[in-house]
Amino acid sequence: MPDHLRLGVNIDHVATIRNARGGIDPDPARAAALAEAAGADGITVHLREDRRHIRDDDLDRIRAASTLPINLELAVTEEMVGIAERFGPHAACFVPEKREERTTEGGLDIAGLHAQVTPAVQRMRAAGARVSLFIEPDPVQIAMAARMQVPVIELHTGRYADLHNAGDTAGRDAELARLTTAAKDARQRGLEPHAGHGLTFANVGPVAAIRDLAELNIGHFLIGEAVFSGLETAIRKMRTLMDQARA
Ligand code: PXP
Repeated sequence: MPDHLRLGVNIDHVATIRNARGGIDPDPARAAALAEAAGADGITVHLREDRRHIRDDDLDRIRAASTLPINLELAVTEEMVGIAERFGPHAACFVPEKREERTTEGGLDIAGLHAQVTPAVQRMRAAGARVSLFIEPDPVQIAMAARMQVPVIELHTGRYADLHNAGDTAGRDAELARLTTAAKDARQRGLEPHAGHGLTFANVGPVAAIRDLAELNIGHFLIGEAVFSGLETAIRKMRTLMDQARA
């Protein structure tokens, strides 16, 4: 079981701030360099259909700005798979995407959509990417991921985070138990479990303590926190909290 829990820093929301004004500042490529300096293990970006976060031309600049592996999140669409094939990320994480949602709500229903997802998985695998599926901590979804023979799944922690933030301790603990069971199930099926969404300094500990998890992907909170403390400080503190939870 991995002792070092990897931290993927999602820098999308640096681009969100830039896009609020147009122009070039703040630059997500600079955030990628800072994340590397602060000890991140990877850079995660989501090229959305509506380009509300990073844009196509950010991809190459982000890659040039750091030596970290890039995890590209993408919807199961012809356009996005085509872009991802040409870009050739280290990892490709398929996520659900609806234009009207504020963020990625719920995991990808691979059990229901496997006929659409499987060819996209095969194309990204052929492009050399380590394919991941962003799913709910649900045994049906995990069984389907194993059937699809992807190397990685990412468990959606959004529900856990919402329950934590609402002060619903019983609900949060139940969701944490679901995440723990799902991570173990994934491991036993030969999948490498990652997790992410909605994680903060306040709620990361119990998730980081799930020993079957190999990686967390964290974005929105870190970029928000960077406003107060700077990005490197925020990432270093998250790293410390993750390490403490594992100790
Ligand atoms: N993992 C995946 C697959 C995501 O889509 C996102 C962003 O929605 C995250 C992790 C990071 O979530 P957050 O920005 O809430 O930390």
